[in-house]
Amino acid sequence: MSVLRTFEETFDTGATVKIVAPGRINLIGEHIDYLDGEVMPVAIDRSIEIAASPAPAGECEIFPDGLGVGSPVRFSTDDLSRRTAPEESWLNYIVGVLHEYQSAGVQLPGFRAVISSTLPIGAGLSSSAALETGIALLVESFSEVEQDVVDRALICQRAEHEYAGVPCGIMDQLAVGAGREGQVLRLDCRNLSFSYYPVPDGVSILAADTGVKHALGDGEYKARREDCEEALRILGEDSFRGMDLGVIERNRDALGDRLYRRSLHAIGEMKRVADFAEALSAGDEEQLGALMKAGHESLRDNYEVSCPELDALVEAAYEFGPDRGLVGSRMTGGGFGGSTVSLVKTDSASNLKTFLEKRYREKFGRALNCFITSAVDGAHAVPVD
Ligand code: GLA
Repeated sequence: MSVLRTFEETFDTGATVKIVAPGRINLIGEHIDYLDGEVMPVAIDRSIEIAASPAPAGECEIFPDGLGVGSPVRFSTDDLSRRTAPEESWLNYIVGVLHEYQSAGVQLPGFRAVISSTLPIGAGLSSSAALETGIALLVESFSEVEQDVVDRALICQRAEHEYAGVPCGIMDQLAVGAGREGQVLRLDCRNLSFSYYPVPDGVSILAADTGVKHALGDGEYKARREDCEEALRILGEDSFRGMDLGVIERNRDALGDRLYRRSLHAIGEMKRVADFAEALSAGDEEQLGALMKAGHESLRDNYEVSCPELDALVEAAYEFGPDRGLVGSRMTGGGFGGSTVSLVKTDSASNLKTFLEKRYREKFGRALNCFITSAVDGAHAVPVD
């Protein structure tokens, strides 16, 4: 059922606004957004949708369709504290964003809302950033305030840090906000500037969700950030951005094996992003594929954020191979589960999908959630008649 219809059934009245906040899939530039690196994600045609109407100031009522919550949840904007009960953890993305606007002096509107999703949740496709951004747009739709896309992303990132407890970078929130139809975003996380590169003609994006739930809050993500901070401290540098590989080679003993490999990933991945952008401009698909493959191997071996399911899917994609239309494949997002992204010739996309589904079932005995997607515009409100 559409989110507008569910709203009518839930609240016996029509919604006045619908917000569409897409997920994102990152093509390259993994685990370097928090290291001043550049990243190249796209917003995808799977999204969090919110239907809403205004309510008296301070009164919020939300029904998260499909989350197993039987009836709308009510709360007041007087209590935007972090929710600690596990069954309310989804609310943190919402109250976290409301709290950020309230702290910035915004008079929060009351509202009724239904939230539904065509985006798999917890699949490394930024469902949390999509929800945060959707709520930010909801606040802005019903109040006088309007943030630009970068400031809104920063608000959502703070909510994620403080309420979800994940010390994430800015890629997800900015990709969800600044995505553009048919375009890959090139986002510079050092100064938050961005530009766009067209998705190559005749190439499709295939997402494959392992169903292995990543829990970035469980400490591994934070541990990677801390490894990088420690490596920089040992090197006496502020940032890996612009650093020559020679620097870590010369300090290999001081870094030790683990921090050396973390540093190798950071420097290598930054270079791969620049090369990927160049290959996109040159239409060099062979190079795009080689860079995605090298990126995956570095995430697996140097950064240690992959898992057997992701590795098997990437391996299967390269077994399918360029002769049958593969351009490139790698894990995407934070890792420890989640999804892979493959670029594939459009007329071969459904064959690759079938191939991956078959291989996955053979190897792991369960279904793969695999879908062909495309680059779409970032989060926006849609008028309701
Ligand atoms: C998660 C984080 C992002 C980014 C990726 C890895 O998605 O939210 O900020 O660090 O992991 O690239």
